[in-house]
Amino acid sequence: MSEQNMYDNEVFFKGYKQLRETDLNYNVQLEQPAMTKLLPDISGKTVLDLGCGFGYNCLDFVKRGASRVTGIDISKKMLSEAKEKNTDEKIKYINMSMTDIDKLKEKFDLVYSSLAFHYTEDFESLARNIYSLLNKGGYLLFSQEHPFITATIGGHQHYNKDENGNYTSFTFSNYGQPGKRDTYWYVEGVEKYHRRFSDIITALCNAGFIIDTVCEPVPNEKADEKIPFIFEKEQIKPTFLIVKARKYN
Ligand SMILES: C[S@@+](CC[C@H](N)C(=O)[O-])C[C@H]1O[C@@H](n2cnc3c(N)ncnc32)[C@H](O)[C@@H]1O
Repeated sequence: MSEQNMYDNEVFFKGYKQLRETDLNYNVQLEQPAMTKLLPDISGKTVLDLGCGFGYNCLDFVKRGASRVTGIDISKKMLSEAKEKNTDEKIKYINMSMTDIDKLKEKFDLVYSSLAFHYTEDFESLARNIYSLLNKGGYLLFSQEHPFITATIGGHQHYNKDENGNYTSFTFSNYGQPGKRDTYWYVEGVEKYHRRFSDIITALCNAGFIIDTVCEPVPNEKADEKIPFIFEKEQIKPTFLIVKARKYN
């Protein structure tokens, strides 16, 4: 199955790279702190990072004592930055789609993925493939855009404010219609896939996983100093869904 490779688009790549070059983004203020809290002990363990992008996390895993890290990404541009800036002899970067991970020959103690799963169409196959790649006792830890964010067809989701300008609610639609969404982010036509919360959890359970933690992170009030109103907005609806699951047998 071929999936979209938007991160190799020149305009998209430039916009995304600029976003990640500061700490004024939702990754740093909201998603990464929550993911780090849920990381299992990876000292002496092997890690696979799906959609590893610039490789920030791959290098962090080595610093935390991982014995071997494999980062895969569909984008050559993302991997070329990763190889230049976040390299280590224990890290192997591979240019491949996560739809092809059944071709990997090694097994891992942790399969990690930060904000990449909403780009892939067939989550049921992905969950089964990840389960096969894990050693007994191994973990899957991933974040993705929350289903409230991926739901709306046509992109007309928005926050609502009261007469004093305070955020009060969030409007979205099409939650009950899983499938492809064409969205705008730096460029038109960025493809994402909407799955209901129940679809995600059921796929993981059907693959054999036991769910350890489900997290919808909220920021620290201080995050407002970096991103105005992030605290208020995240009280209304979550932006990310994080799941930690385990293979016991
Ligand atoms: C939002 S970025 C996150 C990058 C990195 N995980 C991080 O948190 O810094 C999403 C990444 O997923 C990658 N990606 C999207 N679809 C993919 C696929 N089917 N297989 C592998 N990587 C994919 C993109 O190229 C991009 O590098």
